[in-house]
Amino acid sequence: MKVKLRIKRFDPAADKRPRFQEYEVEAEPTDRVLDALHYIKWYLDGTLGFRRSCGHGTCGSDAMIINGRNRLACKCLIKDLKHPITVEPIQGLKVEKDLIVDMDPFFEAYRDVKPFLINDDVPARGERIQSQEERAVFDDTTKCILCAACTTSCPIFWANGQYIGPAAIVNAHRFIFDSRDQAVEERLQILNRKMGVWRCRTIFNCMEACPRDIKITKAIEDVKRAILYEKL
Ligand code: SF4
Ligand code: F3S
Ligand code: FES
Repeated sequence: MKVKLRIKRFDPAADKRPRFQEYEVEAEPTDRVLDALHYIKWYLDGTLGFRRSCGHGTCGSDAMIINGRNRLACKCLIKDLKHPITVEPIQGLKVEKDLIVDMDPFFEAYRDVKPFLINDDVPARGERIQSQEERAVFDDTTKCILCAACTTSCPIFWANGQYIGPAAIVNAHRFIFDSRDQAVEERLQILNRKMGVWRCRTIFNCMEACPRDIKITKAIEDVKRAILYEKL
């Protein structure tokens, strides 16, 4: 079948403003949007810029706005989308070229919450024992692939890029509720700052955007409660 794509293009070195460019590609209904982008890049227009790596919903590098919603191009089947298919870069981060945005501010917020286990004690029996129940408390937030679909769908982040954003909160949650971690208070202090968790107004866009179906708003609520009642 023939499929039409409208892609938002912008090259800061050559263009004054973004523009839409249309392409017609040959595709199977079961092809993904990523396959159509590859077709364009390889056979029609080598100047098109986009990121991708794994091609299977694991690396998180191909989040983009597809027909108005943040999604991974490698997880969107052509047959499930209305045509023409519109593809734009995710919002709130500077466009470097076409569908490629500057991810530095996103990863800075991620690094801010110290997304690694902190525990200076030497484990008594060579490993840190954790029960299944203790592991289950943060199981959901271990699924994050850092695609930024959540943070870049949040209107609070669009209005103020200093907001730490749902992805960083999800990754902080993963360690705050880990029974083996010893830096809970430190992370909660970070999230209790002006641009931390309290900026969230429970708008829910992040939940709808997450390709891993993480219960992001629950994670945010868990962190707010921890700050208020439990751990600070
Ligand atoms: Fe992507 Fe979901 Fe992680 Fe946000 S929480 S970065 S949407 S995987
Ligand atoms: Fe934004 Fe999600 Fe909160 S969209 S306001 S982080 S619930
Ligand atoms: Fe890796 Fe889509 S290419 S998640």
